[in-house]
Amino acid sequence: MTQLFPRWTNRVPLYLGLALPVVLATVVGGIWYWFSPSYTDVGYEPLQPLPFSHKLHAGELGFDCRYCHSTAERAALAAVPPTQTCMGCHEKLILPESIKLAPLRIAHASGLPLPWVRVHMLPDHAYFDHSVHLAAGVGCVQCHGRVDQMAVVRQVQPLSMSWCLECHRQPAGRIGPVDKVTDLGYDPAVAGYDAARDPRRRRQVQPPLHCSGCHR
Ligand code: HEC
Ligand code: HEC
Ligand code: HEC
Ligand code: HEC
Ligand code: HEC
Repeated sequence: MTQLFPRWTNRVPLYLGLALPVVLATVVGGIWYWFSPSYTDVGYEPLQPLPFSHKLHAGELGFDCRYCHSTAERAALAAVPPTQTCMGCHEKLILPESIKLAPLRIAHASGLPLPWVRVHMLPDHAYFDHSVHLAAGVGCVQCHGRVDQMAVVRQVQPLSMSWCLECHRQPAGRIGPVDKVTDLGYDPAVAGYDAARDPRRRRQVQPPLHCSGCHR
């Protein structure tokens, strides 16, 4: 009888049987660790279709966040700017021939949006609204970090339920004057800002702690 497989292969099922629990435990443990709320997506820094730099535009050039994220103050969504916003400068005035901006010109010519990759994302069952937070004086930096120093946007906060609740229970020291929300260098705790003494505030903030506040 010709032997198709060498003799040691008889023990393969045994090896598999021994290795499988170890592999499974590693995978389950890994998933459990990485998907536990405090680790979800912190450090997530996806590659974008074009090397747009906040460090350059918002940091060195000093453009206000709302120049591009114009809906943040009025709507739930902060929204990424349309191609048109970029073309205002890059169509004729600034680096119209740049190779780095080729994807922008192609998108503009085709009328299709640039396929930006989302960095921050909550699950569908959690409700979030930018405008409410900005109106209450919560600065972008509290949730997104020093975006003005990032060449590539990176998630720095877990955006987990316990993280949201931490501030909702104790917003003092994390809310500032409304006109400072896009000033990422402003820290209400360092500045000693006291919301109760700000005459421009018509009422004190009351962030929801009940489930239906964030799960609607
Ligand atoms: C010149 C336009 C422009 C300005 C000014 C600007 N942004 Fe952006 N922003 C973008 C574009 C384009 C993207 C999508 C590409 C990316 O993620 O880098 C983006 C993405 C982001 C994201 C990630 C969104 C996601 O996918 O989760 C955050 C957070 C953000 N911006 C915050 C800010 C803050 C804070 C400021 C002010 C300090 C600011 N931006 C100023 C254009 C701009
Ligand atoms: C208000 C004007 C303005 C707007 C709006 C603007 N930029 Fe810029 N951008 C600049 C300036 C100024 C530079 C730096 C030019 C230089 O280095 O000489 C620059 C540089 C760049 C570069 C580097 C190009 C290279 O060849 O080095 C990229 C990429 C870029 N911008 C992408 C974008 C994108 C994407 C948008 C829209 C979300 C945008 N810009 C909106 C003014 C603007
Ligand atoms: C209280 C926390 C908080 C503050 C303050 C905040 N953001 Fe966000 N941001 C988030 C969360 C959470 C998401 C993800 C939202 C989702 O998935 O529904 C997000 C998403 C975004 C996005 C992606 C598009 C979108 O709307 O989902 C952009 C762009 C953005 N933020 C920019 C800004 C800018 C600019 C500011 C300041 C003007 C700001 N954010 C202030 C928490 C915050
Ligand atoms: C740094 C502090 C801070 C963080 C972080 C924060 N919030 Fe808030 N939140 C507030 C404040 C302040 C208010 C405004 C309450 C007011 O106006 O009375 C608020 C209000 C809200 C409201 C009420 C909106 C409405 O329509 O009444 C919701 C929902 C909410 N937050 C969800 C979230 C979620 C979800 C997260 C986490 C992803 C989050 N918040 C993170 C401070 C924060
Ligand atoms: C301040 C906003 C906020 C409040 C209030 C809140 N949640 Fe959440 N909840 C969230 C966010 C944001 C997530 C998504 C977390 C993530 O993606 O890691 C979440 C996730 C969940 C999940 C999914 C499991 C998980 O941990 O991701 C459950 C279940 C849940 N919440 C139940 C509740 C219950 C019950 C209450 C009331 C006692 C409550 N939540 C109050 C913001 C809130």
